[in-house]
Parts: sequence; C-alpha cells; structure tokens
Amino acid sequence: MRRIAHISDLHFGRTDPAVVEGLVRDLDADRPDLIVASGDFTMAARRVEYEAARAFMARLPKPWIAVPGNHDISPFHLMQRFLRPFSRYRRYIANDTEPTFQDGEIGVVCLNTVRSWAPEQDWSQGKIRRRQIALAEARLRAMPEHLFKIVVGHHPFMPPPWDEEARLVGRADRALATFRRCGVGLTLAGHLHRHYARFAVADGEGPERVEVDAARMEGSRDRLLAVQAGSATSTRLRGNEPNAYNRIRIEDGRATVTVRLWTGSGWADAG
Ligand SMILES: [Fe+2]
Ligand SMILES: [Fe+2]
Repeated sequence: MRRIAHISDLHFGRTDPAVVEGLVRDLDADRPDLIVASGDFTMAARRVEYEAARAFMARLPKPWIAVPGNHDISPFHLMQRFLRPFSRYRRYIANDTEPTFQDGEIGVVCLNTVRSWAPEQDWSQGKIRRRQIALAEARLRAMPEHLFKIVVGHHPFMPPPWDEEARLVGRADRALATFRRCGVGLTLAGHLHRHYARFAVADGEGPERVEVDAARMEGSRDRLLAVQAGSATSTRLRGNEPNAYNRIRIEDGRATVTVRLWTGSGWADAG
C-alpha cells in the first residue's frame, strides 16, 4: 500500500499564510509515502516567490516530486523566458523538470507541459511534444509490470465535467491513449484551481470521458482516472471552492482519492 499527497498551484506571492502553515502541519501529521506537486509554485517566477516556495518545500516530508507550471516561467524577462525559461525553477525547486519516481509498488513519470512560446495557441495552456509522449512511454514500459503507474503534468488531461470545452494540454488525447496502453492508472494535474476526477475508458481516437460518483473514484490499469487538484495554498480561488489538495491511496492495483479541504482553521476530508 502506498499513500500519495497531491498538491498543486501553490502560487507563492499570493498565498494565505494560515493555509500554508496548516498544510505543512497536515502533511507532517499524516505523512504520505510521496508528495506530488503539480506546478505553479509562484505567481510570476520572481526570486522572492521562488525563495518562499523553496522554503515551503524544504519543510515537507520527503520524498517529493514536482513539475513546473505556466506561472513558473517569467512573464517579465523575455530573454530569460525564451532562452532559459526554467533556470529559476531548476535553481529553486528541482534541476529536473521531468523527474521519475519508482519504488516497489508505484512508478511515477512527470511531464513538463509548460511552453514559453506557442505561435498557434495561448502559451499558458501548455502542450505535450510528440517526443515527450515517446519518452514517457519508454519510461513507463521500462518499469516493472506490477507497479501502479502514474503520470504527472501541470495542465489538465481531461476537462471538468461542467465545462466540456475547457482547454486541455495540447495532445491530451494522444497522450492519454498512450498512457492507457502502458497501463497507467492515474494522471495528476492542476492549473484550473478546481478539484475533480474523471475516467478515460474507451479505445479508439480519443478517450471517452466518463463522469464518476465522487465516492467511487477508483483508478486502475483498466480504468485510467484523471485527477485534478484545486489550489492548495493560493488566494486565487475559483468556483467558490476553498483551498484543496488530494490524498491518494494505492492498494491492490487500485487508487482511491480523498479530497482535503481547508475549513478556515484546518484541513478536513471533503464530503
Ligand atoms: Fe495556477
Ligand atoms: Fe497554471
């Protein structure tokens, strides 16, 4: 059995200090086997924001694994943005923007979905390159068959149930089809500051999007569950949702998700 805490969209520079302290306490009081941070550590990649993000991550139980978000590359320093977009992320958060994690039960592959420039679309929406899908596939296939496999990115792989037209990460369908062929049971992402989960079950051109009962969100190698996290610590909340993060339990080839919500004074399970 493995337990993962999935945090996202911390947005240092616009955080609520009480929520930040509460989250450190909550993760320390009930330590997961792995923390996954799915991007947007800062608001605008400022040094002071990255310093706060690094200090926060240093207080969390280890191990943790992370990907950058679109807010983690500078909107101000254009030379830096185009030539070395992830230099501050590498310096303050992690040198590797597409790390992997593996132990005796789980295998995690991370994708950097952030694009500093995209001529054909809004760059903030993110995209997966073909070679990233190929690399992820090679990494997933190199992992032992029995591991529960998870893919992490910042931008959503599946739209919210209430907005089927929401922009997804570029090549989301192609990526999901590949992940399903590799037996991936779970994708973890953020960006929308809303928590939800949906199955991608069908074969063919693209995955069918199936809405599920929140109490029965179980991902497995036969039923890939795309899980989104709300914003863990930022005051940039959307949809009247409080700050949120996910606790995931993986046992007997199945992943169950419990959403933790900020109550104003502490964290509690949703529902
Ligand atoms: Fe965000
Ligand atoms: Fe984002």
